[in-house]
Amino acid sequence: MVSLSKFPDFDYEGALPPGCRLPLVMNGRHERTSPPELVEQLRNHRQEHLLFGWERLDGPARQDLVATLGTFDWRELENLYARRSEPAKLPDLAAAVAPPVEVEEPDAALEALGSVALQRGRVAVVLVAGGQGSRLGSDLPKGCFPITPITGKSLYQVHAEKVLALGRRHGVTPPLFIMTSPATDGPTRDFFARHHHFGLAPDQVRYFQQGTMPAVDLATGSLLLDSPGKPFLAPDGHGGCLSALENQGHLAWMQERGIRSVFYFQVDNPLVKVADPNFLGRHLRAESQASSKVVPKRSAGEKVGVFVSIAGRCHLVEYSDLPQRMAEERLADGGLRYAAGSPAIHLFSVDFLRRVASGSGENGLPFHVARKKVPHVDTATGARVVPDRENALKFERFIFDALPQADRWLLVGVTHEGEFAPLKNGEGPDSPDTVRLAQSRLAATWLASRSVRLPLDERGDPLVPVEISPLVALGPDDLKGLCLPEPAEGKPYLLDDPDNL
Ligand code: UD1
Repeated sequence: MVSLSKFPDFDYEGALPPGCRLPLVMNGRHERTSPPELVEQLRNHRQEHLLFGWERLDGPARQDLVATLGTFDWRELENLYARRSEPAKLPDLAAAVAPPVEVEEPDAALEALGSVALQRGRVAVVLVAGGQGSRLGSDLPKGCFPITPITGKSLYQVHAEKVLALGRRHGVTPPLFIMTSPATDGPTRDFFARHHHFGLAPDQVRYFQQGTMPAVDLATGSLLLDSPGKPFLAPDGHGGCLSALENQGHLAWMQERGIRSVFYFQVDNPLVKVADPNFLGRHLRAESQASSKVVPKRSAGEKVGVFVSIAGRCHLVEYSDLPQRMAEERLADGGLRYAAGSPAIHLFSVDFLRRVASGSGENGLPFHVARKKVPHVDTATGARVVPDRENALKFERFIFDALPQADRWLLVGVTHEGEFAPLKNGEGPDSPDTVRLAQSRLAATWLASRSVRLPLDERGDPLVPVEISPLVALGPDDLKGLCLPEPAEGKPYLLDDPDNL
């Protein structure tokens, strides 16, 4: 640990006007601090090394550092570090049973209920997009990745067009909230602006940035420095959307406008049915606080979280936490006992989100601790360290930890083919090839239901790429009454322009 006495020229008065207190937001919290308090805090928490290189920082860099340090919850970080070797806190899996799942069949009355909610402007859409496409070999946000099989529309465009199509159909466009992280915020805003928000009005897209958490040295509990003046910070997990939405005033904004339901989904799944009336109708009829879509797990090893019911409450057990014995347990008919896989698609009531966002401890969202390799500056020598094994703890919150707090909840069963093809990897499963094929397959089944037959291979997959724009159809019923062209042999089949059909 470096002593503060090593920083005789720690001129905090020079970093900020004397007595200045900065309002700050970090990890979703608003905090106030002043430099003298900060120095005291660093000393008390044995984190003075974070001032390493202070004498070489210019004024703005000093201000940034003071601002960043002033937002850390030292006690929370110390607690998290102290509990680093405890096993992850899991629900009592011995008491877990397979949960009830309602099948999502067509139902005109329910769909009407959902449609009315959309028409009355009672629904907002929240897209979490803090992750980068690093596993896809891209520096850009994952949402910028070109994914549709013919026109190469990005994930962001697909999602934005679904929201636009909902607006055209119901007369009211649900606001699209996009959660970004420090790495994805600028590029996401630029991408939308460059593409004229994909037809949405600029004020229909509302960006909000998630919080960050520092990384802690596994061996010492010291916070790591990315470079002099810059503590290493990482996004605080998709659960960070809750505190970010609450603390940046978005949940209050929704309530003021009479918005009662939030449709939540991840950026990586182009098959998602954004705020579909059937799901909304089921959620509203059940007066559910938290409803989730469920896909039947395809194999014991499929990397999806699994829903279970414990003492009447809904829990999601992440795939990495599910004991192998449970993952592989089978029913008499050979099916998996714990088969309720999560495509990470939820509907929440706004009241419920506000309740969880304002809770702490058991009533808030816990941090999950992960051991990672984090490059950093060695503050004893000034050398850059690139570790070859895990050297640090990172902390994330998961949105699905809110589920057990719902008194009324609902699971709705859907299929992979109809709604879930996530883009996770550069190749192999869940890669651009498989996700493009899943889109072509789904479009081909919609067309087959309207008697447009495309040539298929022996597995039933279309032999040519098939693409239907969300602006043309959000489901097979939207193709009714359209003048659909006959497929031309060997040519991709594209329905892109609603005005030409
Ligand atoms: C996630 C779920 C898993 C689910 C699967 C479905 C977790 C821990 N697991 O797995 O239960 O079955 O999706 O595809 O979530 N994100 C942020 N900010 C962050 C971290 C993530 O916005 O700080 C966003 C990403 O942009 C992405 C989503 O959260 O949209 C999921 O993150 P990812 O790391 O891809 O989760 P998975 O491990 O694939």
